[in-house]
Amino acid sequence: MINEILRSVCRALVFIWPGYVANAVPVIMAHFLPATHPLDFGRYFIDGRRILGDGKTIEGFVLGITAGSLTGYLMEIVRLHTTYGGVVLAAGSMIGDSLGSFLKRRIGLERGAPAPLIDQLTFLVIALILYNYAVEPLLADQVFALLVITPVIHRLANYAAYKIGIKDRPW
Ligand code: CTP
Ligand code: MG
Repeated sequence: MINEILRSVCRALVFIWPGYVANAVPVIMAHFLPATHPLDFGRYFIDGRRILGDGKTIEGFVLGITAGSLTGYLMEIVRLHTTYGGVVLAAGSMIGDSLGSFLKRRIGLERGAPAPLIDQLTFLVIALILYNYAVEPLLADQVFALLVITPVIHRLANYAAYKIGIKDRPW
């Protein structure tokens, strides 16, 4: 039983890896790039708040998708993924991450404010939906495993990024 759960979690992690890479790369890269440009071009929504905010940049979006896609390509060589699957997961992850910020701004949260579940799951849910329709149907146990482990991994990864100094806040 425990073995089966562990196997299922490992399979799920291998599957989602390009999406995780896409999500993590902007955070790391933002720390090193001298200048970045907001994905919403600094524009405001009809509610008077920023569409996405300064936390979502063109550089982060493009580099995230590139890195996630490259991860899919490399994983295809060792038969752990497909390049196309990697591209779809990476794009879904970055679109979902931006959607999360869009939702946060709509409920009045400033850039960088913590939003439990939105911060940890929007990128995952959109990546999974896109993969399900653009590549192949997902297995329920895989989706369930990812919904449970992703918030934990996201929290740990962000805390680690904060501790080593590449992130201002631990979320
Ligand atoms: N980042 C980026 N471009 C993206 C996504 C993230 O440059 N498309 C960088 C930004 O420097 C951002 C950091 O990664 O501040 C952390 O990402 P995240 O926690 O998702 O953004 P927040 O700053 O918390 O903004 P928001 O409240 O909109 O989530
Ligand atoms: Mg954040």
